[in-house]
Amino acid sequence: MSCPAMKRRRVQNKMAKKNKSKPKPRPAYVIRPARLEDFEEIYDIFCKVLTEGKTYSYTLAEMTPERSLAYWMSAPGTYCMVADIDGKVAGVSAVRPHRTGRAHHVANASFIVHPDYRKMGIAKDMGRTALKYAKKQGYLAMQFNFVVSANKVAVDLWQSLGFKIVGTLPKGFDHATKGLVDVYIMHQFL
Ligand SMILES: CC(C)(COP(=O)(O)OP(=O)(O)OC[C@H]1O[C@@H](n2cnc3c(N)ncnc32)[C@H](O)[C@@H]1OP(=O)(O)O)[C@@H](O)C(=O)NCCC(=O)NCCS
Repeated sequence: MSCPAMKRRRVQNKMAKKNKSKPKPRPAYVIRPARLEDFEEIYDIFCKVLTEGKTYSYTLAEMTPERSLAYWMSAPGTYCMVADIDGKVAGVSAVRPHRTGRAHHVANASFIVHPDYRKMGIAKDMGRTALKYAKKQGYLAMQFNFVVSANKVAVDLWQSLGFKIVGTLPKGFDHATKGLVDVYIMHQFL
C-alpha cells in the first residue's frame, strides 16, 4: 500500500508530464489585405531580415523606406497581405507579376513572418492564400526567383505547397554566416 505522500507525488508527476506535452497556445491571426498604416511594421520586419543577411539579397542601405514601400505594396500589380494578430503585423506577403509584358502571366511572391510568430503555420497559410489569389487573378504560374538553398525551412515549405526546384544559381548568394551558397528558382503551375 502506498502512503498518501507517495500518491500525491505520483499525481504531481503525472500532471507535470501532462503540462510539458501540452503545446503552447497559439495566438489567433487573420490574413487580410495590407493597409498603408501597416507599412511601418512591415518595414520593421523587413529590416530585421535584411540585417540578418541569410534570406534576402537586398541590403538595408538599398532598401530605403520608399523602395520597400514599392516592393511590398505600391509597385504596379502588387497585392500585399498581412497576418494580423490583435492589430499587430505578424507576417507579410506580396504577390506581383514576375515580369511585365509577355511574362506577365507568371506571378512572383515574397513572404516574411515576424521572428516572434514563426512556427505557427502563418507562412504556410499566407503561401496558400497567395496561390489562391494568384490563380483567381488569372496568373498561370507562380515563380520564386531567389530561394536561398541554405534556407531549408523555406525550401521545404515551398515544396510542401507544390513548388519544384527548376533551376539552381551556383553560389548566387553571399550568406552572412555560410558565405557563398546556391540559390533556387522554384516554380509551379496554378
Ligand atoms: C520562412 C518563413 C517565412 C517561415 O515562416 P513560418 O510562419 O515560421 O512557417 P510555418 O509556421 O508556416 O511553418 C512551415 C513549416 O516549416 C516548419 N518550420 C518553420 N520554422 C521552422 C524552424 N525554425 N525549424 C524547423 N522547422 C520549421 C514548420 O514546422 C512547418 O512544417 P510543417 O508544415 O511540416 O508543419 C520564416 O522563417 C521567415 O520569415 N524567414 C525569413 C524570411 C524568409 O526566409 N522568407 C522566405 C524567402 S523564400
